[in-house]
Amino acid sequence: MSVMPLGIDPSLCLIGDVWGPCASGQVLALHNPSDGSVLCQIARGGAVDVDAAVAAARAALDGPWGQMPAFERGRILTRIGQLVLEHVEELAQLEALDVGKPLKQARADVIALARYMEFYGGSADKLHGTTIPYLDGYTVYTMREPHGVTGHIIPWNYPMQIIGRSVGAALAAGNAAVLKPAEEACLTALAFAEIAQRAGLPAGALNVVPGLGAEAGAALSGHPGVNHISFTGSVGVGKMIQAAAAQNVVPVTLELGGKSPQLVFEDADLDDALPFLVNAGIQNAGQTCSASSRILVHRSRYDEVLAAMADRYSALRAGPALADLDVGPLVSLRQKEIVEGFLAKGHDLQIAAQGQVVDDAPEGGAYVPPTLFAGSSADHVLAQDEIFGPVQIVLPFDDEDHAVEIANGTAFGLVASVWTKDGARQMRLAKRLHAGQVFLNNYGAGGGVELPFGGTGLSGHGREKGFEALFAFTSLKTVAARHG
Ligand code: NAI
Ligand code: MG
Repeated sequence: MSVMPLGIDPSLCLIGDVWGPCASGQVLALHNPSDGSVLCQIARGGAVDVDAAVAAARAALDGPWGQMPAFERGRILTRIGQLVLEHVEELAQLEALDVGKPLKQARADVIALARYMEFYGGSADKLHGTTIPYLDGYTVYTMREPHGVTGHIIPWNYPMQIIGRSVGAALAAGNAAVLKPAEEACLTALAFAEIAQRAGLPAGALNVVPGLGAEAGAALSGHPGVNHISFTGSVGVGKMIQAAAAQNVVPVTLELGGKSPQLVFEDADLDDALPFLVNAGIQNAGQTCSASSRILVHRSRYDEVLAAMADRYSALRAGPALADLDVGPLVSLRQKEIVEGFLAKGHDLQIAAQGQVVDDAPEGGAYVPPTLFAGSSADHVLAQDEIFGPVQIVLPFDDEDHAVEIANGTAFGLVASVWTKDGARQMRLAKRLHAGQVFLNNYGAGGGVELPFGGTGLSGHGREKGFEALFAFTSLKTVAARHG
């Protein structure tokens, strides 16, 4: 790409208010997964750059950013949201080229980013403490204070949405952020930082250090100057982040994906459910932490639901991001290999249907056909492991207890949904399902900006989105005054 939107130079880091090369001067190639070509070079940031970024964030807290009234912080965030909306097409194109997601999905991510900035912009001055009745002669109250410097290590699947929910909330609460985007896709993170500068965000409130996980990522998660770390990504790296944070005894928010089920009962309205059942599995080529990769169906309707889903799958087309089909390529050839490895593990299952990679899809692209498996055992590896590709498995259940047993029978617990008209069953299942979000007769794939989101078990802990995230990005102080 010769000219980048917003005039960004993708080979630079942002530290304080200065865009510059990383200390080593090294760069990494960023690929376009639709055709395998090199899009541009990005900085290969490392420990020295992370040190500088953390120092710049600390200086911001000690400077104008730290002293700024909450309503002014909010106003800047809202302005960032407005500027994002003025650049929807450029940002969507950039994300489509970088991540491989179909343009309409990339556009939806831009809108979500703007919504996060509006939501957190509007909430910055509404984050207050409480007073607590205590002993006679005392006044007790609480204050919510920022942690200080927050580290944000984000993945490649939804860079803009994850920046919105994590950096947006951290800034609203008065923290100064250091962002380490993923080495597979980081262009919209750089564009976001450029927009934030144009909106008047003070120097150092947001710093961006691209680079490899084992280098820039590890330096950030283990940095003694960082007071909170939020991470979205794989379970393995999540464990490393938590261990690194433990060395400095700082809190972490971990969002590590899942194996989220949708439960279809005998009285479900299938016409209503069908688009949700399929879209939740193939959106962003299944590379979604809250993807619904398991469809559990009451045995009496198993054949019918499988056939209806198979029909949809047969019509799905995968191709280049800019062709804006149902499914794009996976983010990288490495991710394609991972997903193909899972498809091979399904050799003992029946493939109910597959979509098609279009004939003119470029050779070097990371394409896999969307694939629907009919399963019988909930213990099968395809029914247990996160695949992170456009792959779903449909499993039968006998009754409500059996459905709950299968739904809760993985190591994850991020999202679940229930399709039934029986109100009592809806309420029971909302309680019984192990998940951070339960949807009744819909599937929110992570939910709206306003809805707290996060998991249990290997899906991680802590909550992002909504007001809950603001609490996570603050430390509560209790003040007890004895005045007689
Ligand atoms: P990953 O967990 O390696 O990468 C996510 C982020 O962590 C990137 O910014 C990466 O640079 C950083 N990172 C990697 N190693 C690190 C380290 N040692 N210290 C600090 N930061 C580090 O995920 P990857 O390799 O891209 O994807 C592998 C699998 O992880 C996927 O197939 C999927 O199952 C899962 N995943 C889940 C996501 C989710 O949304 N929950 C997002 C991305 C991946
Ligand atoms: Mg990795």
